[in-house]
Amino acid sequence: MSTPSTIVLITGANSGIGLAASGVIARASEGYHVIMASRNVENGEKALAEVKAMEGIKGTLSTIQLDQDDPESIKRAAQEVESQFGRLDVLANNAGIISNEPDTQKNIEATFKTNAVGPALVIEAFRPLLRKSKNAYSIYVSSGLGSLTVAQDKNYFGHDVYYPAYRMSKAALDMWAVQEDRLYGKEGLKTFVMCPGLVVSNLRGKSEEARNGGGFATSPVVSGETMLSIIQGKRDADVGKFVHKDGVYPW
Ligand SMILES: NC(=O)c1ccc[n+]([C@@H]2O[C@H](COP(=O)([O-])OP(=O)(O)OC[C@H]3O[C@@H](n4cnc5c(N)ncnc54)[C@H](OP(=O)(O)O)[C@@H]3O)[C@@H](O)[C@H]2O)c1
Repeated sequence: MSTPSTIVLITGANSGIGLAASGVIARASEGYHVIMASRNVENGEKALAEVKAMEGIKGTLSTIQLDQDDPESIKRAAQEVESQFGRLDVLANNAGIISNEPDTQKNIEATFKTNAVGPALVIEAFRPLLRKSKNAYSIYVSSGLGSLTVAQDKNYFGHDVYYPAYRMSKAALDMWAVQEDRLYGKEGLKTFVMCPGLVVSNLRGKSEEARNGGGFATSPVVSGETMLSIIQGKRDADVGKFVHKDGVYPW
């Protein structure tokens, strides 16, 4: 096995966008090694086997346990990547949740913990490893629903979708990324916020109707391709921005 030129870690890679993106990236080049992070070890192993069995895989893949609600798990994952690879080139903070339950304090806090606090803890744990990369990317998978402009403009799809806890958590995540770009952009880190589009996944629930977004969702491979274009440097002109497959979103 040749030494990979680019080590990519994707959180929440056992499902939906993370799984699809792992396949898209590993298909793109033998230079990529994708670490598919999963909070559940068994689900991570299953997803790893699924991606390895995909046609046209050229890169290498592995899995790692990472629960972003658990600081000890995050710390262990960073130590493991350090001992295996000594650095990280791309951190894709992709894992997230949405709650269909009423917006009780419990649900708001749980959504905020996973979607906003978790990614911040993950990047802080991996930052020393990203600093060892010659070409480091930090990608946050957010949502157009986190955009304040979208929420206020009836011409945007998602304008009146009612998910306050989720939308608030993604807006907070976006602000974290903007701050990261200001603080660490000058030392070479390229930070992107990415909207994956409305795609088929388990995010909204496991029924067919929920998975396919009432028939409007497209394939998560499309999200994986957007992530790949960032990693390949094709979106470098938009560094520090909120990108989607065809352009840039307003915050
Ligand atoms: N699908 C869409 O249309 C859409 C649109 C806009 C934005 N997004 C964003 O895209 C990202 C990926 O979602 P998806 O659509 O692929 O949904 P998904 O199929 O439900 O995948 C979400 C992933 O996040 C993981 N996860 C949840 N909580 C976690 C935690 N505490 N620690 C580590 N992993 C955790 C899940 O693990 P388990 O399998 O163990 O639950 C799963 O692997 C999310 O940030 C979501 O907000 C999705």
